[in-house]
Amino acid sequence: MPDVNRQITLAARPVGYPNESDFRLLEVPMPVPGPGEALVKIVYLSLDPYMRGVMNETSPYRTPLKLGDLMLGGAVGKVTVSNQADLRKGDIVEGMFGWQEYTVTDGKGLRRIDPNAAPISTALGVLGMPGLTAYFGLLEVGRPKAGEVVLVSGGAGAVGSVVGQIAKMQGCRVIGIAGADPKINIMMRDYGYDAVFNYKSVENYYAVLSEMCPDGVDVYFDNVGGAITDAALRVLNRGARIAICGQIAMYNLEQHEAGPRPFPTLLFKQARAEGFLVTEFSDRYPQALAQLTQWLQEKKLKYREDIVEGIENAPAAFIAMLHGRNIGKQLVKLAVP
Ligand SMILES: NC(=O)c1ccc[n+]([C@@H]2O[C@H](COP(=O)([O-])OP(=O)(O)OC[C@H]3O[C@@H](n4cnc5c(N)ncnc54)[C@H](OP(=O)(O)O)[C@@H]3O)[C@@H](O)[C@H]2O)c1
Repeated sequence: MPDVNRQITLAARPVGYPNESDFRLLEVPMPVPGPGEALVKIVYLSLDPYMRGVMNETSPYRTPLKLGDLMLGGAVGKVTVSNQADLRKGDIVEGMFGWQEYTVTDGKGLRRIDPNAAPISTALGVLGMPGLTAYFGLLEVGRPKAGEVVLVSGGAGAVGSVVGQIAKMQGCRVIGIAGADPKINIMMRDYGYDAVFNYKSVENYYAVLSEMCPDGVDVYFDNVGGAITDAALRVLNRGARIAICGQIAMYNLEQHEAGPRPFPTLLFKQARAEGFLVTEFSDRYPQALAQLTQWLQEKKLKYREDIVEGIENAPAAFIAMLHGRNIGKQLVKLAVP
């Protein structure tokens, strides 16, 4: 075991998109578990869009980080030393361990991962927070019915790819939007979308959506916001539901953008737009994870991961993900399991 633990901390608050200089790589002494604690070697670190928000001075979602704080993040790791009654050496656990190679835990707030059910990395993606977000956001907020049209922005990502596949399982016609041709190909070939387009290669989103959705849209699962959502509002059907999951198009803006005012659309379409956070469904995670695991094992659900190696590469991978260069769930591999 090394005698240092490498960590990434917040060095500066980003203006617009983050730069690598906004992060600092530190070497600190290896933590030592005390009585009732265990040492976890982190194997995979998850990089997620919400982390951009906590780098700001104020955040409407989570408590912002202070300068010098360890970057926040979910991770999967292996218990290497345990003085904790419920954890044994070799156990695989998932928790909010942060951007670092090792952590000490008292066992609270951990999820135990069964390595025989699926690769352990999936606990951060299709069988973790993004998969749960897709499951509850689509089924509980979007409430699609067979035969309806579901539109998914950010349709190739960790959340969107699962939304598209679950919507197909509900018997819907599913339209997806993403920002790169390789993503578009994967959405059609692997995730079963009925029609997709690359928003970076079209001028007029509304014209493309009108063509792809001649019968309108009944459920809009919104991962991105911004101009894509402005266009999506124009093709909604009467009684449509909008599941507002994320607004990544706005996370790196330096100036707040004024957009169209959506309430008249909602009024005249008798539509419902509902923001949700996956955590509001936390008491039902076990049931949803059982269903997602079953679909995965039955090969009804496919997933992709984009894995970089080494904690020192986490900042660059995070920045690349915010720019859309990830294909699938963005992870950092820190160790062999
Ligand atoms: N409500 C919740 O509880 C909850 C939970 C998890 C995630 N989320 C939200 O869900 C969304 C997707 O998260 P994820 O983890 O699945 O990430 P992801 O889709 O795997 O990765 C982020 C993707 O966002 C897209 N993107 C970046 N900038 C964009 C822009 N200006 N316009 C349109 N798309 C842009 C990029 O794909 P393209 O190549 O397609 O541009 C990028 O690959 C995020 O908004 C996130 O905040 C919400």
